[in-house]
Amino acid sequence: MKILAVSDKEDTNFQDFILKNPEVIKSIDFIVSCGDLSRSYLEFLVDSVRKPFFFVEGNHATGNIEKDLSNDYFDKVVDKFYNNEKHFCFGGVNLHSRMEVFGNYILVGFEGCMRYNRGEHQYTEKEMSRIVKIVSEKIRIQQIKDFFLRRKKKKIIVISHAPIIGVHDKEDLCHQGFKCFKKFCETFKPEMWFHGHVHFEGQTREQRSKIGDTTVINVYGMHMITTENDN
Ligand SMILES: [Fe+2]
Repeated sequence: MKILAVSDKEDTNFQDFILKNPEVIKSIDFIVSCGDLSRSYLEFLVDSVRKPFFFVEGNHATGNIEKDLSNDYFDKVVDKFYNNEKHFCFGGVNLHSRMEVFGNYILVGFEGCMRYNRGEHQYTEKEMSRIVKIVSEKIRIQQIKDFFLRRKKKKIIVISHAPIIGVHDKEDLCHQGFKCFKKFCETFKPEMWFHGHVHFEGQTREQRSKIGDTTVINVYGMHMITTENDN
């Protein structure tokens, strides 16, 4: 599975990359955004790659996709086609607090970061724990369904804006990771965990770490990620 992951920083060379590497673009299975990117940039990516798009919001207003789109016309379109479910935006799915099945994968998402002021998309540890609990229940129900229908157990991919505590995070409140993310990781052992929020300047490769069986990736910028094992 080939994933185009983006977060926090716009890649100005992407247009050139598309023109020079059409085969690579064709081979992408889906796009994920870990937040703090403008709507226009994300629209450009989705229009260029034309593959399923899953996102979570970051803590910065420039990345606030739903707010950008909250106008009467958009509301009517969403109501008509998506039965009031506003997690769909310009061909993408807002994964926050949600679970989506994509092939043999379960995708889940957690927006925002640790509460450090009165801004939007910020959560205390307790608030995020509640969201993690809701998502955990959704995964368990899916796993029970798969078990009874004798389907292969699906692998889990997580998309969050904030990091996991102790992995790529920082000491200041804004960039601290969530403890409940670590617990989720230990319980469900996702194959991959994509996050943003923690800037990783001057690097050409993404920042990667391992927690047990989970590969944790600080996306910062744009990276093409191949899942380790699709079987
Ligand atoms: Fe952020």
